[in-house]
Amino acid sequence: VGTCPTCGHTLSAEYDLETARRELRPDAFSRRAPDLWRYFELLPVRDPRHALTLGEGGSPILDLGERAEAPGVRLLVKDDGRLPTGTFKARGMAVAVSRARELGVRSFFVPTAGNAGAALAAYAARARASARVYVPEDTPAAILESCATFGADVVTVPGTIADAGRVAREREKGSGRFDVSTLREPYRVEGKKTMGFEIFEQTRAADVGLPDAVVYPAGGGTGLVGMYKAFRELERLGWVERMPRLIAVQPEGCAPIVRALDAGAPRAEPWADARTIAPGLRVPSPFASERILEAVRESGGCGVTVPDRALVPAMRTLARDFGLAVGPEGAAPFAALPELARRGRIRPAERVLLYNTGSGIGYSPSELERALGG
Ligand SMILES: Cc1ncc(COP(=O)(O)O)c(C=O)c1O
Repeated sequence: VGTCPTCGHTLSAEYDLETARRELRPDAFSRRAPDLWRYFELLPVRDPRHALTLGEGGSPILDLGERAEAPGVRLLVKDDGRLPTGTFKARGMAVAVSRARELGVRSFFVPTAGNAGAALAAYAARARASARVYVPEDTPAAILESCATFGADVVTVPGTIADAGRVAREREKGSGRFDVSTLREPYRVEGKKTMGFEIFEQTRAADVGLPDAVVYPAGGGTGLVGMYKAFRELERLGWVERMPRLIAVQPEGCAPIVRALDAGAPRAEPWADARTIAPGLRVPSPFASERILEAVRESGGCGVTVPDRALVPAMRTLARDFGLAVGPEGAAPFAALPELARRGRIRPAERVLLYNTGSGIGYSPSELERALGG
């Protein structure tokens, strides 16, 4: 099992950071290969021979300068659209599949909005293991095809990822396949931590310090939980004094985390009738929402919603003005800028990093617009 057998909560990988503090220096990493295994000492795989790689990690941080959408704010984009399989999901699956394989696992399943399935399929192929993905039946065809091309079994389920999860867990009971669902095993988050490590290392190398805030498109929440864990570990190593504020962006049609943040609630309640053109953000009841809320609150961040109709114009602006191809999820942080600036959640003279979680290649903005109109 991947969760605590007593209370059912998520498990968390812990490290001997006291020893690491004495023995590790931040510049140790800069001499290593650019993939995420450069942070090996802070990742859960024990034997480097079990670290599977497709060259994930090391995505660039691009400077967009200042924009009228958030006057006076210096905007940066970290572009994970270039990772294997086109999304940040490669980070979590590289580490989860490697560690599971080290522990003897040879077959996997995952309920997914799509991108995590493609990433699982690719790393399972790399591991010569088998993968089955359970996806909502309206998942974009390009993502389904990508899962199948990497050799995964693809099972489509009516409804949302919540329904895919229910069906998957029912059908897989006793199958022997390992469940790599978001936050139901501890190691995908460890891979996502490398987003925070890279932001630290790259801004340190440029001698500019951490950004004031990271604006992130939140679905199941592993990205926020992973970055928060990364910055906490960097604090304990004595390398970081104050972490960036973590800001969760969700679409108006599916915003359980933002609603819980605004209400001061201890956990997110399921969102009825979840709708959005951003498949990765259609997560009506994120598992372990307490940990997502903790990441946002403890970092001094907040939540904000964006209407779907703002996503395609943001995709177009990032493409036309900067040559950046982002998917509808990755467009959400840019679309949220005017509201964040209006509320004073990001301020002039601050440096704000927008996280692009996935490539726009494979998405047609005009088709998304038609989907909105219908
Ligand atoms: C492209 C993309 N962005 C963002 C998310 C949300 O991920 P999380 O909140 O789990 O980090 C997903 C999840 O499917 C995704 O595919």
